[in-house]
Amino acid sequence: MQNEFEIKKEMCEIGKRVYNRGMVAANDGNFSVKLNDNEFLCTPTGVSKGFMTPEYICKVDAEGRVLQANKGFRPSSEIKMHMRVYKERPDVNSVVHAHPLYATTFAIAGIPLTQPIMPEAVIALGCVPIAKYGTPSTMEIPDAVSEHLQYFDAVLLENHGALTYSDSLLNAYHKMESVEFYARLLWQTMQIGGPQELNKEQVEKLYEIRRQFGLPGKHPANVCPNAKAGKPSCHTCGGNCSSAAPKADADLVAEITKKVMSQLGM
Ligand code: 13P
Repeated sequence: MQNEFEIKKEMCEIGKRVYNRGMVAANDGNFSVKLNDNEFLCTPTGVSKGFMTPEYICKVDAEGRVLQANKGFRPSSEIKMHMRVYKERPDVNSVVHAHPLYATTFAIAGIPLTQPIMPEAVIALGCVPIAKYGTPSTMEIPDAVSEHLQYFDAVLLENHGALTYSDSLLNAYHKMESVEFYARLLWQTMQIGGPQELNKEQVEKLYEIRRQFGLPGKHPANVCPNAKAGKPSCHTCGGNCSSAAPKADADLVAEITKKVMSQLGM
């Protein structure tokens, strides 16, 4: 098991990767790691995450309040978004936020990543919805992201960037790479006539592989409320699985009410 200093060093290493791969510009992006239920390490605000050393890393509690920060460093301005993910997803141990070029292009165009175009993206992500726009650093972003947390491990942030989370820092970062690669492939194929999509059967076989692997996290293969209700799901519902959940409940309530009323002769 890694000690705290080793985790801080890994955070600096991930910062270099995020920066060197052009997933952030200047001082953008932030990430965090859960140590236990009341201690979290996070990147500081307003510094380039590509040039951090372990002393840069701050420690906060579950509300995002500072537990330890060296002089001149304050926790990320987006710490509330990270804390919302930990609060609502106890299986998550790390959160990564970045602005990768292609994923952010789709987030700005308001287009979720829903087309099934390559097996790895279908298995790793399913599809990637868009959390509605919120002003950075306010509660608007955590509230928008919250809608999707029980269904996906990656979301685009409208007109902003992308957010991924997983059981480890490396896995959360790898999800960010997968989101960006998926977005880039979609963009590239759009330039030459559009992608050939995998068909429903091919997608279902990939979902089955994911179930058999027992991969951790939330994914439409396991949790999509539409799929469970036998309704169009994931790659056919436009990435609206999570926002469709309350509707599915509302449909059910309406149907039951109708039946009860007809039995009562009303
Ligand atoms: P911080 O430097 O405060 O983490 O903010 C960077 C960012 O990308 C905000 O969206």
